[in-house]
Amino acid sequence: MKFFVDTADVAAIAELNDLGMVDGVTTNPSLILKSGRDIIEVTKEICSIVSGPVSAEVVALTSDEMIAEGRKLAAIAPNIAVKVPLTWDGLKTCKVLSGEGFMVNVTLCFSVNQAILAAKAGATFISPFVGRLDDINLDGMELIGDIRQVYDNYAFKTQILAASIRSANHVSQCALMGADVMTAPPNVIKAMASHVLTDKGLDQFMKDWAKTGQKIL
Ligand code: E4P
Repeated sequence: MKFFVDTADVAAIAELNDLGMVDGVTTNPSLILKSGRDIIEVTKEICSIVSGPVSAEVVALTSDEMIAEGRKLAAIAPNIAVKVPLTWDGLKTCKVLSGEGFMVNVTLCFSVNQAILAAKAGATFISPFVGRLDDINLDGMELIGDIRQVYDNYAFKTQILAASIRSANHVSQCALMGADVMTAPPNVIKAMASHVLTDKGLDQFMKDWAKTGQKIL
């Protein structure tokens, strides 16, 4: 499973990238707001660090304007994936931009039917939002599994990019469900390293090591 980082925080991206943990990046208007940066400038900087797909989201609501915005965002770097919402206009935009050879990430997906439409419109990535479905007491992970089954049934090439990932447990569940990619905030990726038994074991090793009176260096 590929790892995308869901942030526009350049320092956080660089830190994870140095560890080989970054196969791509996703941003959205809320994350651009949080960064306090200009969308073009920060996206360009991210693309200078990360060679994999970097999603930059359009903000227009009509397909004509979305297409124009998408072309402008795609001109930032060759690894831009234009992110469009799963609306009818977003699907039209997906069809046009993917036809022009651009990567397109169709976002705000909450159903199998939406995922089917995105695949037929030529999406490179479909982004089902796991956490936001859980927020309203639906099963976000079930959607990942259902889309996996349908895409496999018909050999759709669109990659399932599990989004709105809120915990380390979500990450392992996505991997088990067969998501091609997951995107998570840096703190969630770091939380994957934590285990209470690792902490407990290390504590015991340190105590026993101190009793040996030895040094390695
Ligand atoms: C995905 O592309 C979105 O940017 C993101 O995963 C949304 O996550 P949230 O629901 O935690 O805001």
